[in-house]
Amino acid sequence: MNEGGGDTGQEWAVILGASSGTGAGIAEAVAHKPGLNVFGVHRGRYPDTASQLEQQVRSAGRRVVMWQADASTPEAAEAGVAALREVAGLRSVKLFVHSIAGASVGHFLSAGEDRLHARRIRRTFDTMAHSFVYWAQALADADLLAPESRLLGLQNPLDETHLGNTGLISASKAALEMYVRYLAMELGPRGHRVNLLKFGTVMTPALKHVYSPEALARLEAAHAKMNPAGRMSTVEEVARFVTVLAGEEAGWFNGATIDFTGGMTLRLLDLVLNP
Ligand SMILES: NC(=O)c1ccc[n+]([C@@H]2O[C@H](COP(=O)([O-])OP(=O)(O)OC[C@H]3O[C@@H](n4cnc5c(N)ncnc54)[C@H](OP(=O)(O)O)[C@@H]3O)[C@@H](O)[C@H]2O)c1
Repeated sequence: MNEGGGDTGQEWAVILGASSGTGAGIAEAVAHKPGLNVFGVHRGRYPDTASQLEQQVRSAGRRVVMWQADASTPEAAEAGVAALREVAGLRSVKLFVHSIAGASVGHFLSAGEDRLHARRIRRTFDTMAHSFVYWAQALADADLLAPESRLLGLQNPLDETHLGNTGLISASKAALEMYVRYLAMELGPRGHRVNLLKFGTVMTPALKHVYSPEALARLEAAHAKMNPAGRMSTVEEVARFVTVLAGEEAGWFNGATIDFTGGMTLRLLDLVLNP
C-alpha cells in the first residue's frame, strides 16, 4: 500500500460513472492534464468504453483501476474507498467527480407506467444526490483527499426551465446543489474545494441509446437554435474545462455553481414569443 502521495504521478482522480459519456471524457482528459491516475466506478453496462478508457489512461502513462459496483449507497462508498486505498496513498485524491446518470423520468401524479412512485424517488435521490455526500464522507474519513483537492458535482440547465418528465431529476439536482454548498463550507477550512459544474446537453452514448436518429437530429437542430454558438457543446469541451478546474488557478471557486452552458437557455423566451 502506498503512503503519502501528494506529487503528480501519485495523485488520483476518483470518477463515479467513468465508463461512459461525461465521466469517461473527464477521466481521459485529467489523465493527460494535470496527469492523474484514475479510479473509475461503474456497474459494467458499457464494457467496451470502459476498456477503451483503461487503454487511454495507460497510454497517457497513468495508472487506472475500474471498480465495478453500484456506487449509490453508503456501503458502496465505504467499499470503494477501501478498494482505492489498496492502490492509492493517503491524501492522494486530487479530484473527485460525480458523473453518475441514473434517474427515473415520469410524472408525479400519473396513474400509468411513468408514475414517479416512492421507490423511484428514493433510488433517483440516492444515485443523483445522496451518493455525492456518501463518497465525500468516505474519502474525507479515510484521509484520502489531497491538499487543495477538488470535488465536483455535475448539473444541467433544468434548474432554469421546466422540461416535461424531468421533475425528479431536477429535484435531485437541487439537492445535489445544496450538498455541494454545505460540503464547501465544511471542507473549505481543510483546504478543499467543492463545486457544481453546470453544462448544457452533450451527445453521450446514453442519449444515442435513448433517442432515435430522427429525434437526435431534432435535438441537435433545437440546440443549434438555442445556443448562441449555434451548435451543441461536446463532452471534450466539458472535460477540458474540468482540467482547468483541477488546476491551481481555479482554487478560489468554492460552493459555486459554475455556468458552462454557453448561454443555452438565454433565448428561450425569444424562441417562444418570436418563433
Ligand atoms: N449528457 C448531458 O447532456 C448532460 C448535461 C449536463 C449534465 N449532465 C450530467 O452529467 C452526468 C453524467 O451524464 P452522462 O450523460 O455522461 O451519462 P452516461 O453517458 O449515461 O454515463 C453514466 C455513467 O454512470 C454510470 N452509472 C450509472 N449509474 C450508476 C451507479 N448506480 N453506480 C455506478 N455507476 C453508475 C454508468 O455506467 P453503468 O451504467 O455501467 O453503471 C456510466 O459510466 C450526470 O450527472 C448528468 O446529469 C449530463
